Amino acid sequence: MQSVLECRRITKYFPGIKALDEVDFNIRPGEVHALIGENGAGKSTLVKIITGIHQPDSGVILQNGEPVEFRNPIASQLAGIAAIHQEATMFPELSVTENIYMGHHLARRASRLLDWKGMKLKTRSLLEKLELEINLDTKVKDLSVAQRHMVEIVKALSVDAKIVIMDEPTSALSLREVEDLYKIIRQLKATGQAIVFISHKFEDIYEIADYFTVLRDGRYIGEGKVSETEVDEIVRMMVGRSLDQMFPKTKVQLGDTILKIEGLSKTGIFKDISFDLHRGEILGFFGLVGAGRSEVMQAVFGIDTATSGKISVKGTELSITSPPVAMDRGIAYVPEDRQIQGTILDMSIQDNITLPIVDKLASYSLLNFQKEGEITREFGERMEIKTSGWTQAVNSLSGGNQQKVVLAKWLATHPEILIMDEPTKGIDVATKARVHEFISQLAAEGLAIILISSEIPEILGMADRIVVMHEGKITACLNPSEADSETLVKAAMGNLLPQESE
Ligand SMILES: Nc1ncnc2c1ncn2[C@@H]1O[C@H](COP(=O)(O)OP(=O)(O)OP(=O)(O)O)[C@@H](O)[C@H]1O
Ligand SMILES: [Mg+2]
Repeated sequence: MQSVLECRRITKYFPGIKALDEVDFNIRPGEVHALIGENGAGKSTLVKIITGIHQPDSGVILQNGEPVEFRNPIASQLAGIAAIHQEATMFPELSVTENIYMGHHLARRASRLLDWKGMKLKTRSLLEKLELEINLDTKVKDLSVAQRHMVEIVKALSVDAKIVIMDEPTSALSLREVEDLYKIIRQLKATGQAIVFISHKFEDIYEIADYFTVLRDGRYIGEGKVSETEVDEIVRMMVGRSLDQMFPKTKVQLGDTILKIEGLSKTGIFKDISFDLHRGEILGFFGLVGAGRSEVMQAVFGIDTATSGKISVKGTELSITSPPVAMDRGIAYVPEDRQIQGTILDMSIQDNITLPIVDKLASYSLLNFQKEGEITREFGERMEIKTSGWTQAVNSLSGGNQQKVVLAKWLATHPEILIMDEPTKGIDVATKARVHEFISQLAAEGLAIILISSEIPEILGMADRIVVMHEGKITACLNPSEADSETLVKAAMGNLLPQESE
């Protein structure tokens, strides 16, 4: 079948790095094409070239057999290409409708005034078609991470695109939302649209993709039909060797209780949350998006305050009124949304990693630059951040490497209690096993860890105990040995299981 879009020998340089090296990539109509590769392999760069954000240094793009040039994003949009980028491109202060029609407003023909009524009607019908319950007038900054992602998707669908590119659309979604997204993709496919799909989750790829192309270090490695290829083979193409995908957690003798939460509630958000966390323990938190897991942890870290309940650290009841108070007590929180809460994007890797410990590094009010460099190197290397130098700005790193900076930053604070919210989101399989190994090592060193994750294999493989939440309440507390994905999902959907006695 003729390609709708064909990239031939695309090369792209960034300062200090060849991000793409003569890459070939073909997209056919009615096909879901997975673009696969490790963090920093060049996937997003290729997407940005197809969408006119970056210009290639050499190579050509053919559309329906004709050479084309996308000098800017509008040119690519006009050619029928829509994209959901890995990094949010929305305006937080504007409403859902305003964001969806940004760049392609509808206007009334006679008066040429903006047709807000028309735009709202269309948005509403799109939202209804996708069965999304999102208010059109809500400002984007007030949406949850998952909702924001769904709005990005609606935005891509609001232009009648022939090619829809999704750069890690599922990393911010969980279970039900992912199902919704699969449904949307199948609809698009049925109408002959071509879909490019980027994901680090093999469940996604095997569920939805027909075809795949693998990149490694900016180079084209190979392509094939998903149904005719084993996971191991794709992994070997990605990383150049075979790999144990899951890191088995080492059993650690649990120490004494370091954190005790009793009856923590916040009106309308979460209710009567109680749990203990021990030294050396990894306590998993599982649930659907919106179950309230992040909100509970934000209350523990002082980003938010609970309306009632008790938080005790090492046996002393505390009132945690702000993050510095929590950090003082040895608590660190790695947020889910690296773009809003996690990193300061235009600062360097080094400045980001040492930001929370700047006070400690300053002696005689002069920053200890050498120490700063050492710490950055230590944690940057442990997290295997792929970069051309520690002074590189975080916003020019690949998505997965930005996530690693957030992790490194909080680890450098040497916490006693580490709360991680979806820590391996956007991290490739090879690195994920290493991050898991690292988390397990930290637990073995006596760190108490709370791991919020929507990934069932990660929760089952890593946690010593699993707390499941549904609509703001704890519905189960399970031992991984007696839990399977079915029990977890049931509890996350609200089927109450008896609490395990400790
Ligand atoms: N604007 C930029 N300036 C400098 N370097 C960049 C820029 N954008 C990307 N790079 C570099 O190009 C390489 C490829 O990055 P890219 O974002 O395409 O990776 P990716 O395959 O999407 O990875 P991930 O899975 O982590 O999202 C990386 O080494 C990255 O640091
Ligand atoms: Mg990327």
